[in-house]
Amino acid sequence: MAKQEDVFKKVISHAKEYGYVFQSSEIYDGLSAVYDYAQNGVELKKNIREYWWQAMVQLNDNIVGIDAAIFMHPTTWKASGHVDAFNDPLIDNKDSKKRYRADVLIEDHVAKIEAKIDKEVTKAAKRFGDSFDKKQFLETNQRVLDYQAKADGILKRMGKSLENEDLADVKALIEELGIACPLSGSKNWTDVKQFNLMFGTKLGASADSAMDLYLRPETAQGIFVNFLNVQKTGRMKIPFGIAQTGKAFRNEIVARQFIFRMREFEQMEMQYFIKPGTQQEWYEKWKEKRLKWHLSLGMGEDNYRFHDHEKLAHYADAAADIEFKFPFGFKELEGIHSRTDFDLSQHEEYSGKKLQYFDPEENKSYVPYVLETSIGLDRMFLAVFSNSLKEEELENGTTRTVLKIPAVLAPTKAAVLPLLKRDGLPEVAQKLIDELKWDFNVIYDEKDAVGRRYRRQDAAGTPFCVTVDHQTLEDDTVTIRHRDTMEQQRVKLSEVKEIISKEVDMRYWLQKI
Ligand code: GAP
Repeated sequence: MAKQEDVFKKVISHAKEYGYVFQSSEIYDGLSAVYDYAQNGVELKKNIREYWWQAMVQLNDNIVGIDAAIFMHPTTWKASGHVDAFNDPLIDNKDSKKRYRADVLIEDHVAKIEAKIDKEVTKAAKRFGDSFDKKQFLETNQRVLDYQAKADGILKRMGKSLENEDLADVKALIEELGIACPLSGSKNWTDVKQFNLMFGTKLGASADSAMDLYLRPETAQGIFVNFLNVQKTGRMKIPFGIAQTGKAFRNEIVARQFIFRMREFEQMEMQYFIKPGTQQEWYEKWKEKRLKWHLSLGMGEDNYRFHDHEKLAHYADAAADIEFKFPFGFKELEGIHSRTDFDLSQHEEYSGKKLQYFDPEENKSYVPYVLETSIGLDRMFLAVFSNSLKEEELENGTTRTVLKIPAVLAPTKAAVLPLLKRDGLPEVAQKLIDELKWDFNVIYDEKDAVGRRYRRQDAAGTPFCVTVDHQTLEDDTVTIRHRDTMEQQRVKLSEVKEIISKEVDMRYWLQKI
């Protein structure tokens, strides 16, 4: 089995074992691509959401938040283009009877070509040692250039075919590339067809008066239909943004890869309303701003890259993904889309209401253009969780499993451990818990030897362990152990809160953006 798959399996089993993510309705054998967040997962998710919200809403005085309903008037989805164009190209394998997204099959093929580039880089880095210049190598090595040209050519052709709705050419491309069903190895494919991803439901009790509704496939439309309400009541001046986080639903054809692609998921989206003609400038600015947000978490610069879209969604004039290196390779984590005035103009047309902004500087009204940043909360969770999980060899020859979640996002900030369950140590530990719990999540743990408790907290992702021992009773000092370095410091009981606060405070982390 490929090593990548092993790593990913470990991520999934660790997420379950340490109370982060469970399969939905597991006692009934689960529901495909639907997951529940457990006691630690819900805290990590909440912290990621808060980290995003503070960066977008709290720290930008021209961005405000809303929380729109999941149910929206059905015309919303006609106007937005989702009824007609929110489709994925699907293809079935006639032998295995398995259904795939045609574009994903092609992208997976391209990912294999890109993996060859990575291999060349690793080989060259070994050969040249310290003098290795990765950038220069990527730009000059002929084999790498050939692989890159091949990958780019495939994506370009796929993008064009999808844009032109030329599904026959998408099938032809799959056949030319010799792509086989990953399950059966068969190359016996059906034609490519379009499949709408929205879930339908009904509003109302009686069969004849019930209204057909959709579960929203993106949160963005709740922002567009509220644009004028927010602009007027908030007296917002362009440029300004509206942000929200919330559930979205898509009937994904290929729902695999754990919480990477789910049927019910959460988005964190921001629409930035701008003057027409300034979209290129804001597009570049928001690309840079969002990348900085990601980098502020210290998960490694090399784990991110931009991918500019060849195939643009029906509403965009430019779009890029911030891709992250997941255990199964670089994949989309966040999208930055220049959505033009498409959505507001469509809603004007379908609702018959003006959705315009009077610009006092220009002395005229116009439909603003929109720059969107859109990130999946669950995908961000997976990025943080998978990147944090490490197996480390220790100096004494043993290994430890440690979840190095950035301290600001960790579900529990500290565990307080009495060295023994007697001599008044549990009482002192409990008193410390009672003081710390007003500021952050802390837990008490007295079971097993202290070394085993450290390991347990390492694996759960707790950045600090505070140990109360007999010396504490004499001089009011405790030991603080740091998860990532395993270093231990002797500090005063009265200093514990400040030491931990400094490292988990959002302000300290967000100052880097
Ligand atoms: N409003 C624009 C929009 O929805 P998108 O690229 O379709 O754009 C934005 O989705 C983000 O939402 C993606 O970058 C991804 O992080 C997340 N996302 C999309 N589909 C998802 C799914 N099925 N499961 C989990 N996250 C998903």
